Amino acid sequence: MSRREETEQGAAAPPRQATLGVGMVGYAFMGAAHSQGWRTAGHVFDLPMRPALAAICGRDRTAVDAAAARHGWAAAETDWRALIARDDVQLVDICTPGDSHAEIAIAALEAGKHVLCEKPLANTVAEAEAMVAAAERAAARGQVAIVGFNYRKVPAITYARTLIAEGRLGALRHVRATYLQDWLVDPESPLTWRLKREHAGSGALGDLGAHIVDLAQYLTGERLVGVSAVSETFVRSRPALAGPGAGLSGAADGTARGEVTVDDATLFTGRLASGALASFEATRMAAGRKNALRLEINGERGSLAFDLERLNELSFHDHTEPAVTAGFRRILVTEPEHPYLEAWWPPGHGLGYEHTFVHQAADVVRTIATGSAPMPSFADGLQVQRVLAAVEESAEKNSVHTTVPF
Ligand SMILES: NC(=O)c1ccc[n+]([C@@H]2O[C@H](COP(=O)([O-])OP(=O)(O)OC[C@H]3O[C@@H](n4cnc5c(N)ncnc54)[C@H](O)[C@@H]3O)[C@@H](O)[C@H]2O)c1
Repeated sequence: MSRREETEQGAAAPPRQATLGVGMVGYAFMGAAHSQGWRTAGHVFDLPMRPALAAICGRDRTAVDAAAARHGWAAAETDWRALIARDDVQLVDICTPGDSHAEIAIAALEAGKHVLCEKPLANTVAEAEAMVAAAERAAARGQVAIVGFNYRKVPAITYARTLIAEGRLGALRHVRATYLQDWLVDPESPLTWRLKREHAGSGALGDLGAHIVDLAQYLTGERLVGVSAVSETFVRSRPALAGPGAGLSGAADGTARGEVTVDDATLFTGRLASGALASFEATRMAAGRKNALRLEINGERGSLAFDLERLNELSFHDHTEPAVTAGFRRILVTEPEHPYLEAWWPPGHGLGYEHTFVHQAADVVRTIATGSAPMPSFADGLQVQRVLAAVEESAEKNSVHTTVPF
């Protein structure tokens, strides 16, 4: 035993925990949320490897240095290629707009790094297919590629999946999914990258619809096989921003306006592989709705309902109970037996939005350490992308029913 492995009292030091060096690209909204996840996961969960916040990347030196200091990253780069090349980075976490996901993810996978990539996986099906091909080649070398559908990591949602898989709802009949926000109601809200097709791929559809499509498929264990859609852009021009890639916090210059090239709202119906029916609404124009992701799933034996604005709760109706006493009851999903909860607070001391990113980070670490199948995988992200493309095609063709390729 070397002197460094001994404590001052001469006792053997605990074995040093392996680390997973993380390099993150982008440091605004998701960058802050993911930083929180990486910082916290190893302190809450008993993980086989401890995440190390090795380096963060942005394009502006002053801003990225400030972000590194604020969020706890050891180093900062101004070129994502330099981040990928670092020896202390084993996982690249992509928190940039969709137009850069494919290029960064494929380069990172080909450089031998694991990848966590924000949703939607890409801006087009072709990009997502190339990312899946790169992920498959990388998987053969033991690398992991995961897409950041973080709402799967809300304990109530993870638990809902268990109840459905156990047959508590019986054969499924309906999925009703809405994701409503209101931050674009004001026509003077600026023209951020989220309103430009070349950066975001689509609007409410890819931003919000991607989440509820993923959740519908995750919860039911089935894929959507066909859709019929309507879509609208209510405000067609908005105050232009100084920089083309400016984010939510960017300031408008007050004069020029630019064209909105994505949907403000998209609604669609769909059919699941079993024949169950589904309906979806994604909008950033629902005044008063801040982050209202709501799900209801009805089966022959019962129903489940969930609202992200009350994310510690799951409503369950057991239709096999006598009608005189049956009804929706509130399950407070904070018991230690519920998913992820054993590591957190006593029952009733609820979790919030940020915890989904802690759970995501913990799951990524466990997947890498154990060699288990990545969830959600890039293939899951591609399937969602195919649904989004079918929805856009249907909306363009006056709602004609459109098959989702498999
Ligand atoms: N999982 C979720 O709930 C959720 C929520 C919001 C956004 N997202 C997704 O996360 C991604 C980022 O969204 P956001 O809200 O954080 O956007 P944002 O505008 O807040 O931040 C984007 C960041 O990417 C940086 N960036 C852009 N291009 C870059 C490049 N080429 N190299 C380095 N840095 C670059 C910007 O400087 C900024 O730091 C998008 O794919 C979005 O759809 C997911």
